[in-house]
Amino acid sequence: MEYKRPFGVRIDENGVIPGAKKLVRRLSDMRGYFYDEKAYEELLKEDPVVYEVYAVEQEEKDGDLNFATTILYPGKVGKEFFFTKGHFHAKADRAEIYYALKGKGGMLLQTPEGEVEWVPMEPGTVVYVPPYWAHRTVNTGDEPFIFLAIYPADAGHDYGSIKEKGFAKLVVEENGEVKLIDNPRWK
Ligand code: 6PG
Ligand code: NI
Repeated sequence: MEYKRPFGVRIDENGVIPGAKKLVRRLSDMRGYFYDEKAYEELLKEDPVVYEVYAVEQEEKDGDLNFATTILYPGKVGKEFFFTKGHFHAKADRAEIYYALKGKGGMLLQTPEGEVEWVPMEPGTVVYVPPYWAHRTVNTGDEPFIFLAIYPADAGHDYGSIKEKGFAKLVVEENGEVKLIDNPRWK
């Protein structure tokens, strides 16, 4: 038996995992995701980085684990806070754990039938993402929102249905408050 080697890594104060694979999502990578299309086109002139992911991934084998940090930047498109694309796992029954490290935000979760839950997150919050729930994080603060995710190596990502239908709720700022409102485009 050839054993894989254990290791430890230290996540730095900016959420970077040294040696990890880096992924950058700019606003231009998220066309169609935000409700306010006019505000989207306007902000696209700057094309800000919305989030970065540092992932340490194994072969997609049953029983193994991946982990990744996400640095979700503060910002809004219209009144809608910056968020991650959101996905179901390709193997939809694979669960996940999130652990908030810095900043302020929350997670939107949704079943395939469109039932939604919102879980607020601050440093120290652990979120359990059950099997079959799509998940999207939202930065509701004014500094980077940084968290660690731990997920089965064979979970995979299924972005299609969220890209098409979105979430049934939008997370917006109204009168200086964070609010969840119905997504008018959701059907
Ligand atoms: C995962 C995690 C997490 C997520 C990032 C970016 O399954 O890998 O949920 O690492 O991928 O926070 O979010 P999106 O994958 O939705 O763009
Ligand atoms: Ni996931």
